[in-house]
Amino acid sequence: MLDPNVFKIPKIIIALDFYNKQSAMKLVNLLNPSVYYLKIGKEMFTILGRKFIKELHQMGFNIFLDLKFHDIPNTVFNATKAAADLGIWMLSVHAAGGKKMLISAKKALKSFKKAPLLIAVTALTSLKEKELKEVGINISLTDYILTLSKLSNDCGLDGIVCPGREAKKIKCLFGNKYKIITPGIRVSEDLLYDQNNVITPQEAKEFKIDYIVIGRSITLSKNPIKKLDSILKSMQ
Ligand code: C5P
Repeated sequence: MLDPNVFKIPKIIIALDFYNKQSAMKLVNLLNPSVYYLKIGKEMFTILGRKFIKELHQMGFNIFLDLKFHDIPNTVFNATKAAADLGIWMLSVHAAGGKKMLISAKKALKSFKKAPLLIAVTALTSLKEKELKEVGINISLTDYILTLSKLSNDCGLDGIVCPGREAKKIKCLFGNKYKIITPGIRVSEDLLYDQNNVITPQEAKEFKIDYIVIGRSITLSKNPIKKLDSILKSMQ
């Protein structure tokens, strides 16, 4: 198997979006924790909470807790601390929460010896440009993403979640240390579902994306390991 830790290809984060633990564990038990990272989002965390994260840690997985905090600075400070207490590897907040909120999240991690990577979501990969206008933002989606990327970088965050198409530009502007995490990954036979800005794993490699988030392409697959192997091969 092609190991992303050895070859210079994007590392794979599996979005563990399931309705119950049994279905989630069916997939988790097939995955090698030294190759794949797991993303726990609002769905699984609301159902299974902190105990589930601890169980996955015991199995050796690195966890990206994708709760996309977006609230007043004090609330985000406390929530970030509570999340970091879990010993997770990565954590997300919404860049649109603004400078003070982002700085508060960063400050909350100061006291941790091994703090999680703090990542800001720029634009959801489901978002269309006309939807930006509907919420009163009258710049292009690309400019919106670049503005929020700069803000997050200025606030000392470790990287951003952004659609694949903008990733290349962001890498050039902010350098290699600033991590790029890209959801909306699809291979040719996959359905789009609610996603709008999608790219293939090969494009992710080309755009020098650090981590790709793959959800339904794997969680709904009849043979997830075979599919993951073919995704890894396609990035060779
Ligand atoms: O199933 P699919 O591959 O579309 O899943 C994408 C995952 O990435 C979901 O868990 C979703 O919450 C997450 N995500 C996203 N767009 C962002 C940030 C996170 O789709 N900007």
